[in-house]
Amino acid sequence: MSQIGTQTRNGDAFHSSDRDGFLHRAFLRGSGRSEQSVRARPVIGIANSWSELNPCNAGLRQLAEAVKRGITRAGGLALEFPTISLSEPFVRPTTLYLRNLMAMDVEEMITASPLDGVVLLGGCDKTVPAQLMGAASAGKPAIALAAGPRATGRWNGEPQTIDDLWPLADKRRNGEIDDVRWARLEGCLIPGVGTCNVLGTAVTMALLAETLGMALPGTSLLPATSAARAAAAEATGRRAVELARSGRAPDQFITPEALENAFRVLCAVGGSTNAVIHLEAIAGRLGHRLGLDAMTEWSRTTPVLADVRPSGPHLLEDLQDAGALPAVLDRLGHLVHTDALAGTGEPWSAVLERHREQDGRTESPALRPAAEPVFESGALALLRGTLAPDGAVFKRSGAEPGLWRHRGRAVVFDGPADLHARIDDPDLDVDADSVLVLRGVGPLGGPGMPEVGQLPIPRKLLDKGVTDMVRISDARMSGTATGAVVLHVAPESAAGGPLGLVADGDVIVLDAMTGRLDLEVEAAELARRTPAAVPAAPERGYAALYHRHITQSPEGCDFDFLVAARSAREGEQS
Ligand code: FES
Repeated sequence: MSQIGTQTRNGDAFHSSDRDGFLHRAFLRGSGRSEQSVRARPVIGIANSWSELNPCNAGLRQLAEAVKRGITRAGGLALEFPTISLSEPFVRPTTLYLRNLMAMDVEEMITASPLDGVVLLGGCDKTVPAQLMGAASAGKPAIALAAGPRATGRWNGEPQTIDDLWPLADKRRNGEIDDVRWARLEGCLIPGVGTCNVLGTAVTMALLAETLGMALPGTSLLPATSAARAAAAEATGRRAVELARSGRAPDQFITPEALENAFRVLCAVGGSTNAVIHLEAIAGRLGHRLGLDAMTEWSRTTPVLADVRPSGPHLLEDLQDAGALPAVLDRLGHLVHTDALAGTGEPWSAVLERHREQDGRTESPALRPAAEPVFESGALALLRGTLAPDGAVFKRSGAEPGLWRHRGRAVVFDGPADLHARIDDPDLDVDADSVLVLRGVGPLGGPGMPEVGQLPIPRKLLDKGVTDMVRISDARMSGTATGAVVLHVAPESAAGGPLGLVADGDVIVLDAMTGRLDLEVEAAELARRTPAAVPAAPERGYAALYHRHITQSPEGCDFDFLVAARSAREGEQS
């Protein structure tokens, strides 16, 4: 599980009287540090995913300076280092494809460097889970701080957030938005640095890191460029010093109880479906597993409390005003394991008690009381059935309730190229009751499960006013997107899953209330069909490593050799 005791180094390296210690001190003094400062303990690394290739994380350079202030004032030595950074809009084939590479980078740098602890500075979607996975495996004290959400923009006099892009893109497709307005939108859709300003994957993962005790309470939603976030960065630096002195590693925070809390928060805020994969991957690094059955039960018993974009009408800053994550946990009441640890090292019960005593929290429709939820339960439906023997995910809170139960005939697309070639064909045999199926876009087939699961509505249906229909794939979907979209179908078609056998006209039955996804085709008929082809194995480099070792979505799409030993996982739900 942890590499401590095998290869891990720590700040002792700067204190030994032998030649090695001399060299460590001498090289650090070469960077302009005093004799006293190179002997400060603990030594805290700052794993910074700042990159000009990742605009969402552009604020991390300033935040790192504030973290260093906190570390130095608490008596530690701060040493910042860069890691890979993964930008959703820039990286191809997908950021999930490279998430495990980033996790390996983070783990190996923490392990190999003379550090007593680490601050993880992430932001854009995959950077947060990659850092948590790497730090969990490295086994040194660690605390995270996310970049924070960017400001809300304005376009045509209205508040504009990133999720507005999807309906606007549809309007652009059918000619409702001309070139001039489209160009103006490009200039104001992203009004500043920071992560996407809705409950997409980045903000969801920041909230889950906070729930897991891997970030300071109340920090996830602070605006990216606010003084409050800079102050939180300084406090995070101070906390990293405390953590390193205490020796408490991530396995003391990321417990089964904390993972359940995190999943319930995901449901209560109607967060990103991507988080289901990332939570399993983080859990797997420490020998835990959430499992489809437990997640189904937790989702069923957790009310949806946040009514925030992309699933609801309110803004992220409204959720911040309503008390942010502590208020969500507080409203979940007995559903939360309050003995799990917060990022301060206290049990959540102590943090929530303080939260209750604070004045000035406004009641906001962005966060409902548990007695008046947005939905009674089931933000995320975990599905199983003949079309998804190992599971699939459906975000009920983002879909029209009329489509939670649906029966329709399949219209099948083999990969994104086939989809884009035919989806707007006027002769496509499709109506509003059809079920659009996209395959060949899973962890192996994509590769990297591209976020193409929200298939576009065929133009001829858009023109008739159709805004949602059932779509099914082995892909993922952007956390900023919504719709009646079944995702993460496992096993994927490229791994022999039944999705690869679906033919045009087959009847598919979705029941997101009972958690079923079935293909109504006789087994004998399916046996006559040709399974989807397995993609050829790449011969070299990361592509070859990925192809050989990537696991399916129920295992978190981690590499099989990075997941904790099987023996540590026995006895847990599958
Ligand atoms: Fe980076 Fe959304 S694209 S956080």
